[in-house]
Amino acid sequence: MSRKATVVAPSNIALIKYWGTSDLERTLPFNPSLSMTLRECVTRTTVEPISDQKDEVLVGATGGGLEPASPAFSAGVEAHLEHLRSWAGVTERFRVATQNSFPMGAGMASSASGFAALALAIAAALEREISAETASVLARESGSGSAARSVMGGYVEWPSAATEGVAAQVLPADHWDLRDVIAILDTTEKRVSSRAGHKLAETSPYFKPRLQQLPERLAEVRSSLQSRDFARLAPVVEEEAIDLHLIAMSSRPPIFYWRPGTLIVLEVVRAMRESGVEVCATMDAGANVHLICTPEAETAVVEALEVLPEVEGVIRDGVGSGPREIDEPLF
Ligand code: PMV
Repeated sequence: MSRKATVVAPSNIALIKYWGTSDLERTLPFNPSLSMTLRECVTRTTVEPISDQKDEVLVGATGGGLEPASPAFSAGVEAHLEHLRSWAGVTERFRVATQNSFPMGAGMASSASGFAALALAIAAALEREISAETASVLARESGSGSAARSVMGGYVEWPSAATEGVAAQVLPADHWDLRDVIAILDTTEKRVSSRAGHKLAETSPYFKPRLQQLPERLAEVRSSLQSRDFARLAPVVEEEAIDLHLIAMSSRPPIFYWRPGTLIVLEVVRAMRESGVEVCATMDAGANVHLICTPEAETAVVEALEVLPEVEGVIRDGVGSGPREIDEPLF
């Protein structure tokens, strides 16, 4: 028995990053990461069993409605569907439609929210009650490690200290209403995928020293989140983001994700913090900068970004409570 199901799953921003894969096949990281689940940047996915021999993949079109996905996008979805079918022991084919709340081509990664939404929607369509832990494993097995964290709300660690490969919520969303103001600096597709970056990480001479520093950094982020201590959190989050890019830039061959605007925004953030604004910066494998701040600082942060010519757009987001099934299908 299967039915039509629609799930909304959030993106997340890592405060301690996953960079480098110890087991590429199973998408297992060298180090635990810790992220904040977002509220506004989400993927909505509807799945429905069909009698065809082949899955059908549709995406939200720019002008509204749905359109067939590109061959590369369809291939990624179909590969994950194949994996989910073998997990569930079924052979059904599906029509899948997926839409991001953030503009496509805004340089925002959607693999975490996309693969989390797909895994949860298929489980719902097949009427399988799954735990958040199982959802985390299924999402991660798409090949996107950060998807493991997008199945839970609040502040999420993956893998958690107690489990092999499974994420766990460290603190709920209502523990601390942190905001994420995203400065869009580059709307082109990134030249080197994060998968390729994970593979190259170990070639950096700074990778081993990074792994040695991470337990202390992770403990500091966890504890400053627990005590809602922004002054302690901010420098560690920034140090960690720069460390990821240091590893990327010193990999062989090197990967440069930053654009000139990235440095300009980093300087603005530093100056604001020195003048007492509770804000710090972090970046994923791309040029865009996520400005993590308190609710009191959000307006000043948005205003500071809006006057910079390098900033092509600003997305206002904040900590969210995780995925949910909804009754608003895309088709
Ligand atoms: O989820 P992936 O395999 O695309 O890797 C994501 C890696 C970073 O976004 C750079 C860091 C992280 O932990 O999210």
